[in-house]
Amino acid sequence: MARAAVVGAGMTTFGVHDTPMQELFGEAAFEALDDAGVSPPEIDALYFGNAMGGLTENDTHLGPKIASHVGMAGIPVQRFEDACATSSNAFKNAVEAVEAGIHDVVLVGGTERCTPETGKDTAAMTRIFASASHRQYEQPTGLTFPGVFALLTKRHMHEYGTTAEQLAHVAVKNHGNGALNPNAHFGKEVTIEDALDGPIVADPFRLMDCCPFSDGASAVVVVSEDAADSYDAPVDVAGVGHATDVVPIGDKRELCATQAARDAASEAYEQAETTADEIDFAEVHDCFTGAEILASEALGLIEDGLGGIAAEEGRTARDGEIPINPSGGLKAKGHPIGATGTAQVVELAAHLRRDAGERQLDGVERGVAHNLGGDAATTIVTVMEARQ
Ligand code: COA
Repeated sequence: MARAAVVGAGMTTFGVHDTPMQELFGEAAFEALDDAGVSPPEIDALYFGNAMGGLTENDTHLGPKIASHVGMAGIPVQRFEDACATSSNAFKNAVEAVEAGIHDVVLVGGTERCTPETGKDTAAMTRIFASASHRQYEQPTGLTFPGVFALLTKRHMHEYGTTAEQLAHVAVKNHGNGALNPNAHFGKEVTIEDALDGPIVADPFRLMDCCPFSDGASAVVVVSEDAADSYDAPVDVAGVGHATDVVPIGDKRELCATQAARDAASEAYEQAETTADEIDFAEVHDCFTGAEILASEALGLIEDGLGGIAAEEGRTARDGEIPINPSGGLKAKGHPIGATGTAQVVELAAHLRRDAGERQLDGVERGVAHNLGGDAATTIVTVMEARQ
């Protein structure tokens, strides 16, 4: 039995935008409303995510600003902040609200601006993002997110022999997928040589191992499972798992097992009455190439330790046994952090509705999205299914 259904989906292009956040969100929201065939007065509540707007643009209390902009002033608005897992948490709460009968039709999404259009360059934005790491134990050391994921990936390389070439295969695959996605930040393919020759960002990551700073927004319309029949193209939400882990990486029990992802995945699979073997494709949080490898293992899609080899052998390619990040992932589609979670839901819905254009995957019935925040300390895993 599904917990809820997505009946409309929309997103802006991810990349560089010179429009304010409420306008960006409006673009994604109206696309989702049109897709669902509903108008603003039919929306009962807005669940909305923005992670860093206060720090990046001195723009807070965005909920009512955004609701007014999209013609929904008056309804309840909840704003969520969970670092890069921000809009997934909004989505999880929307699913719970319609399932509990609190609201019938909820607009859910997120927006963020992270490029120099905000007036902040890469160095300033890197410092702002680091606010999601541990204030006392990590920030004073100068640790930033490329460094956090570099340490986790180094541990994977040490334990399992994962190589820089295998990381490069993840980058090449995701840039290739992004080249088929008209909404992607980067629309061009790269080669293994491009990836291996790029400048070092945080060893072992070079430029092509990193996601970019992006601007963008995404939104979906969520209704209860029963109400979904009256919409044109519902996609079922079968499970949403949510787990946390200790924040400082020095306190984590294991460095390359990302425990919160394992816990969130097992909760989502249990709700969906499914297992990793029955998942047809995945959108995972590849903020860095190594993070995709860790996620593919934590979700049970690839055997522990073999994530790098799987990428090298093409097992995670669009025509492989378990396609991972057909959208291009955060790596190539881009990562406007508050918009990333619901953008993953938009991508799952597109494939499950057979509406993903040139990048459509064949015969997929069930997909999983994995979205993490901070030092892999918040993770939300969503299982979605094509309606039978
Ligand atoms: N992947 C591929 N190419 C990238 C890129 C990326 N992540 N980031 C920038 N580029 C390209 C630009 O398009 C530009 O190309 P051009 O010269 O052909 O126009 C070139 O590299 C330089 O871009 P610039 O914006 O000056 O790069 P930068 O050095 O300021 O920033 C990174 C590059 C990788 C350091 C930055 O994107 C980064 O820190 N990413 C990680 C963001 C992050 O930590 N997010 C949170 C995750 S948890």
